[in-house]
Amino acid sequence: MTSSASALPRKIVVGVAGGIAAYKACHLVRDLKEHGDDVRVVPTPNALQFVGAATFEALSGHPVSTTVFDAVDEVQHVNVGQHADAVVIAPATADVLARLVAGRADDLLTATVLVATCPVIVVPAMHTEMWNNPATRENVATLRRRGVTVMEPAHGRLTGKDSGPGRLPEPSQIAEFVRTELAGYRTPFDWEGRRVLISAGGTQENVDPVRYIGNRSSGRQGYALAEIAAQRGARVTIVAGATDVLETPSGAEIVRVGSTREMEAAMNERAPEADVIIMAAAVADYRPANVADSKMKKGSADEELATLHLVENPDILKGLVARRDAGELKDGVVIAGFAAETGDAMHSALDYARAKFERKGCDVLMANEVGVGKVFGQTTNSGWILRRGAEPTVVELGSKQVVAAQILDAVNAIASE
Ligand code: CTP
Repeated sequence: MTSSASALPRKIVVGVAGGIAAYKACHLVRDLKEHGDDVRVVPTPNALQFVGAATFEALSGHPVSTTVFDAVDEVQHVNVGQHADAVVIAPATADVLARLVAGRADDLLTATVLVATCPVIVVPAMHTEMWNNPATRENVATLRRRGVTVMEPAHGRLTGKDSGPGRLPEPSQIAEFVRTELAGYRTPFDWEGRRVLISAGGTQENVDPVRYIGNRSSGRQGYALAEIAAQRGARVTIVAGATDVLETPSGAEIVRVGSTREMEAAMNERAPEADVIIMAAAVADYRPANVADSKMKKGSADEELATLHLVENPDILKGLVARRDAGELKDGVVIAGFAAETGDAMHSALDYARAKFERKGCDVLMANEVGVGKVFGQTTNSGWILRRGAEPTVVELGSKQVVAAQILDAVNAIASE
């Protein structure tokens, strides 16, 4: 992965093409601005059929034009393109993809792209048939070959009654992806055909019909891994316990589970097809020995009733490693886990992580130092990546997407050994 992180405010050009999803560009502009970036909107003339120039001007704080013949003295296409830190085209229509491939400069947006030497991120949105059309497929492949990052569209409801791949990812997902690219983690499209299985969130163990034992995991790190893996081209399945309300990563399939044993069953069922397995879930190590059939009442003098007896849950990660060692999983499967550690007077969090890495037998381990207000529920993460056959590498504090990109690079290093 290349390029270095640039300081705020970065100059980001948001190109908007003439599709119904153009309205989502307004939220994208807002998100990027709220995170401190300077945004300039360059719509195509057709985009203004969907959203007025005044809206883009008010949101970005910059004038908007669509042609190279406005403000000719400022040579806009050269100026805007040369000084940009990133150009993001969202939505990009099939027509814009074709014009980019042909190197056209027939409006301010395509002319700006031709001048730009910064990262260009294209976010297509169109009907499934147009996305699957060989002309579009080839145009996307050509752009990727030339170093343009093309985001995979989301699956879901399109403009009409139909549904399928072609939907614009949510603006917050696009903005986070752009920030990851600008942090220096350009996402290569190199995992096409790979199957990735990721557990996320926290498992919950029932005590009675209304109560459970759970944990504070938000699921964010697992979802971020899924998002980046899907953007690398992989087919991704998330086995999710309890999570915050999170956007479904583009194209990922989600299987919902409750308890540790349900998560174990769901992971085991899908593991034999997976090329990469990542246990990012916070798994409950124990469960109540008995689950009450009806709600337990307070005020009972029965001390026994007020005592929870716990039994140990299976270790899903260890079980998956044992299956790999027994030859039950795909040849070359890479298994990654997490370690949530706190240091103490005797040992550092990294010492404990090294010991866990040995114990678990996985290929990659992301170790975090946890504590009050650290990692769980936060949007950032930091720690160390332990990889089989390599020294631990430090992961600086960064968004969970940026951390995910580094974990997937470590997985990639093992896979290409
Ligand atoms: N894990 C698992 N099954 C469990 C417990 C943990 O698969 N029953 C996985 C987690 O998803 C994570 C890794 O093992 O990838 C380490 O989890 P962690 O909670 O840090 O460690 P534990 O195994 O619970 O060990 P300890 O409680 O001793 O720290």
